[in-house]
Amino acid sequence: MKERHFIGVFDSGMGGLSVLQSLLELLPGESFHYFADSAWCPYGNRSTEEIIARADAITTHFLAGGAKLVVVACNTATAEAIDHLRSHYPVPFVGIEPAIKQAAYHTASGKVGVLATRNTIQGRLFRETSARYASGKDIMIQVGEGLVEVVEEGRIETPAAMALLKRYITPMIEAGVDQVVLGCTHYPFLIPAIQRIVPPDVVIHDPSPAVARQTAAVLKSNNLEAVTGTPVLHQAETTGNREQLLGMIQHLGLDISDVTFSSV
Ligand code: DGL
Repeated sequence: MKERHFIGVFDSGMGGLSVLQSLLELLPGESFHYFADSAWCPYGNRSTEEIIARADAITTHFLAGGAKLVVVACNTATAEAIDHLRSHYPVPFVGIEPAIKQAAYHTASGKVGVLATRNTIQGRLFRETSARYASGKDIMIQVGEGLVEVVEEGRIETPAAMALLKRYITPMIEAGVDQVVLGCTHYPFLIPAIQRIVPPDVVIHDPSPAVARQTAAVLKSNNLEAVTGTPVLHQAETTGNREQLLGMIQHLGLDISDVTFSSV
């Protein structure tokens, strides 16, 4: 059997790089293999069957390469496919979901805003987490229609992107929201723009650091941590435009030079 040596991280596109950043910071001794499924992006409006089929294809590809753990760095794919993945593959999976619990705990006004994709919001995970941790709080939910595309296409700092964000977030602020939960891994790249819209005391929640901590815990409990001194090697691939992924990786200053196109 092939030696299992790297952590696979995937998203519908480049959004999961926000999670990869936290993983690289917390786990410098681990090797990561990032998969951007940009040809299928956005997942947010796709059917459950399509998302599961993509999650299957990417996981099979990771396992054939020697993945020891897979991080589903996509709220939508976590909501739609993580139960399926956990019951079909012999490696641990770490997922991501909107940081409702944290936001509900910290809110002083009792009002929490959630910006996410339609599939994430409609999923069982989101309903259960909200019911368990945010009952009694006023949750304002907003689908971030078009925001994934803004990030994928590198249109972050444009007036059109700002107008979309204002349309989604201003009503939350006017309603007294003091916590904004980013329920999509593409959205942390919009934080500087969001900060220009919200008052300084509004807290913006990105769950990426918590996902990295959970990954560290799962590695440890499964005895999968990299042996000290093992060479670290990162790779990235995309079903979309290689130059765009490379550009984003360079823009973020990530140390990944092996960036390829994938036909998975
Ligand atoms: N980054 C994905 C997420 O966290 C985007 C989903 C999509 O492609 O719609 O949900």
